[in-house]
Amino acid sequence: MDNNQAQQKIVLSAMKPSGNLHLGNLIGAGKNWLKMQEDYFCYYAVADLHSITEEILTKDLREYTLDLFCWFMAIGIDPNKSVLFVQSQVPHHAELAWVLNCFTQYGEARRMTQFKDKSLKNPDNINLGLFSYPTLMAADILLYGAHYVPIGKDQKQHLELARTIANRFNNRYSPTFVEPEGIFPKLGAKIFSLSDPHKKMGKSENDPKGVVLLKDDPATVERKFKSAVTDSETEVKYNVAKKPGVSNLLVIYAEVLGLPIKTAEKHFENKSYAELKEGVAKAVIDTLIPLQQKYNSFRANKENLAELLKQGSDKASFTARKMLSKVYRKVGFV
Ligand code: TYM
Repeated sequence: MDNNQAQQKIVLSAMKPSGNLHLGNLIGAGKNWLKMQEDYFCYYAVADLHSITEEILTKDLREYTLDLFCWFMAIGIDPNKSVLFVQSQVPHHAELAWVLNCFTQYGEARRMTQFKDKSLKNPDNINLGLFSYPTLMAADILLYGAHYVPIGKDQKQHLELARTIANRFNNRYSPTFVEPEGIFPKLGAKIFSLSDPHKKMGKSENDPKGVVLLKDDPATVERKFKSAVTDSETEVKYNVAKKPGVSNLLVIYAEVLGLPIKTAEKHFENKSYAELKEGVAKAVIDTLIPLQQKYNSFRANKENLAELLKQGSDKASFTARKMLSKVYRKVGFV
C-alpha cells in the first residue's frame, strides 16, 4: 500500500457464489461497488466459505466462484485498482471468525433474521456454520479495517452485529478494529422477485420466473418481465405499499438507466402495464448485453483468470495477516 492508499478510507464487500448473479445483486450492491472504487481503497471478495452453509455441489461451487469473479470484472471492478479475491484463498478469514465467535453471544446470533429464515426453509440442515455466518462476515470486514461496506438492506442486521463485535473487542483490549458503516443504495436496496413482489429476488431461491439473471439472453429477459406480477389496476405509479409489483419494475428501470424514480414514473405516464414491462425489459437487455460480452471474454481466458486469482489472494493476505497477528497478540496467543 503506498502513501496515497494509506490515507484513503477502506471499503469491503462480498458476494456469495451460491447461484447465478441476478439483477438484485447488480442494483443492490454492484453499482455502489463500482462507484466506491473511484474514491476509496476497495476489497471485494467472492465469499465461498459462506456458500457451504447451505448444501451445494462441488462442481457448482467451483463454477459459481469463477463465474462471480469474472462478473465482478465485467461490471467494472478493476483488479489493478481494487483487491479482488476469493475468501477461501485467504485463511485468515476463518481464523479471525473463530476469535470473533468467542466475542458473540448466542442470543445475538439467534436473533439474526437470515438465520431464522434459512432454518425454516431448510429444517434438515440447520448447521453451526449457518448459525455463525455473521461472525465470518464480521471477520471479512474487520480484517481489512473497512470503514464502509456497500450492501443491500438484507445484510444490514449482519453489519450491525459486526459493529457490536468490533466495539466489544476494542473495549476489552484496546482500539483494534474500525467500526464499519453500511452503505445502502437510496433506491433499489431491495429488488423484489418478479413473480412475488413481496419476496426478495434471490440467487439460491427456487424462483426461476421471478429472478432475472445477469446471464439471461434477451428472449428470456423479455419473457420474465412479460409475466411479472403487477396488480388489477392500470395506472403506472410508484407506490411500494399499494403497488409493489409496478414499483419494483419502476425501480429496476430507474436503477439500470441511472434515473431518478420520478423520471421513470413520468416516462411511463399514461402507458399500459404491457408497455411498462416491455420498456423495463428493453432497458435491462441493453444493460446486460455489454456486461455479458465482457464476462464471456474474462471467463474464457483461463490463464489470465488463474493469475488474477493469485494476485488477489496475495494482496488480501498481506493485509489480513497483519490484522490477525495483532488480534492474536492481544488475546494472548503465543
Ligand atoms: P449475497 O451474496 O446474498 O448478496 C450479495 C449482495 O447483493 C445484495 N442483494 C440484493 N440487493 C438488493 N435486492 C436484492 N434482491 C438483493 N439480493 C442480494 C446483498 O445485500 C449483498 O450486498 N452475506 C453476504 C455476503 C458477504 C458479505 C461479507 C457482504 C459475506 N461477507 C462482508 C459484505 C461484507 C451475502 O450473502 O450476500
